[in-house]
Amino acid sequence: MIETLESARLDALERLAAGAANRRSAMHVPAVGTADGDIRIMVLRHFDPADWSMRFHTDFRSPKVAALAANPAVHVLAYDPEAKVQIRMRGQGEILREGRVADAAWASADNYARRCYLADAPGSSSETPTSGLPQWAEGRKPTDDQLADARQNFAILRVMLDRIDWFMLAHEGHRRAILTRDGAGWVAP
Ligand SMILES: Cc1cc2nc3c(=O)[nH]c(=O)nc-3n(C[C@H](O)[C@H](O)[C@H](O)COP(=O)(O)O)c2cc1C
Repeated sequence: MIETLESARLDALERLAAGAANRRSAMHVPAVGTADGDIRIMVLRHFDPADWSMRFHTDFRSPKVAALAANPAVHVLAYDPEAKVQIRMRGQGEILREGRVADAAWASADNYARRCYLADAPGSSSETPTSGLPQWAEGRKPTDDQLADARQNFAILRVMLDRIDWFMLAHEGHRRAILTRDGAGWVAP
């Protein structure tokens, strides 16, 4: 049972770090909301417990990028059904298309992962069911040369969190804490 704000903070930060590091973690694929009211599942690639920053990979042409340019407010929702812990987060999003962070992420992706960025822009309509990929790339791993045009479509979504709402459902009594980087308080669940 978590009975101190410090342990609630630790629990939230550890779960998010594990969510980024472990593909099997329920918190590996949180829902990410933008201020236009849309929400989508994204793979959590990195979480830094020291500065509360998160990183996701995305397509620069996707609608969420335009939504973030209009309003950088981001909501992230993660839930672990086994632990019955919900983490609701608020922060500011930023798209990084160039520079050290985006280059390093691109460099560490394999060519299958990079292949997604050869596809038609997310949300473009099609007369037929489609992966969006060019025919030649279906079912095959492109070479570095074939991926030359893909890099320009790749971007990082970096979210700087400023508020974490941590909620643990428990028989002995639910617990809920609102955490900021320099403060914390209990609230009724
Ligand atoms: C399991 C799963 C993981 C996904 N991971 C990502 C991701 O890491 N980045 C991303 O941009 N979209 C990801 N998507 C697709 C998004 O949910 C969304 O459909 C897509 O980004 C469309 O762009 P929009 O939200 O800007 O309209 C994922 C979808 C699923 C089902």
